[in-house]
Amino acid sequence: MSITIKDAAGIAAMRQACRLASEVLDAITPHVRPGIATLEIDRLCAEAMAARGVRSATVGYQPPGYPPYPGHVCTSVNQVVCHGIPSGKPLKKGDIVNVDVTVVTPDGWYGDSSRMFEVGPASIAARRLCALTCDAMWLGIEQVRPGARLGDIGHAIQKFVEGHGLSVVREFCGHGIGQKFHEEPQVLHYGKPGTGEELAPGMTFTIEPMVNIGRPDIKEQPDGWTIVTRDRSLSAQWEHTVLVTPTGYEVLTLSEGSPPAPAFVKGMAPAT
Ligand code: MF3
Ligand code: CO
Ligand code: CO
Repeated sequence: MSITIKDAAGIAAMRQACRLASEVLDAITPHVRPGIATLEIDRLCAEAMAARGVRSATVGYQPPGYPPYPGHVCTSVNQVVCHGIPSGKPLKKGDIVNVDVTVVTPDGWYGDSSRMFEVGPASIAARRLCALTCDAMWLGIEQVRPGARLGDIGHAIQKFVEGHGLSVVREFCGHGIGQKFHEEPQVLHYGKPGTGEELAPGMTFTIEPMVNIGRPDIKEQPDGWTIVTRDRSLSAQWEHTVLVTPTGYEVLTLSEGSPPAPAFVKGMAPAT
């Protein structure tokens, strides 16, 4: 097994799958308010997928050793790091929630993106965590160009996160994506510059750092999916799917409602 390189047709298909995943997040944004249950968010996502002719990649997803995942999306609230299962419990003012959307198109291409939502006004600490985690993702994205290495991405994220007194979760990582949900490479959110696989045009993978206010340690809940911080501190995550271009990167999971990139992101000159 090795890293797949997408040709022009594959890149076009990935652009479409990824834009649709992002549009699903746009569609639910006005609804993420105090009182809504995460199961209702899940239903709205399912509707938004159906309206766009795509389906959820997560319903029934069952890697070896796991029970089938029940949700159309993951909804991870407060101390939930990732893989939170949508439930009937209403969100309350001050909660933070990650909604992670992975869609698959009828021709079998995957798009994967997640955002944080603040439910009503959140605490200063929670808002800071969400904003810094988004910045960390973008710092990782900005490392992406042919010739860079995976360790450059991980290092940029880790250095920034730890420099702000926060911690990077180690057990979960970004991943190659294309005609499979999870493919090579593993994109760690920590590491050493100049190490790991070299990036080449046509690779598509996610960058999706999970960042905790407290210690990096996690534990799995008895449902076999939900991951929480061991010390119960708040955790945040943002995720984009990116393409390595001849000159740098293209963020594929963008749509009209995407939150703007942080001001430090200069973006890429268009490829000629
Ligand atoms: N979307 C997640 C990721 O970014 C994976 C979710 S798998 C699930 O890789 F089964 F929990 F939904
Ligand atoms: Co995801
Ligand atoms: Co992912």
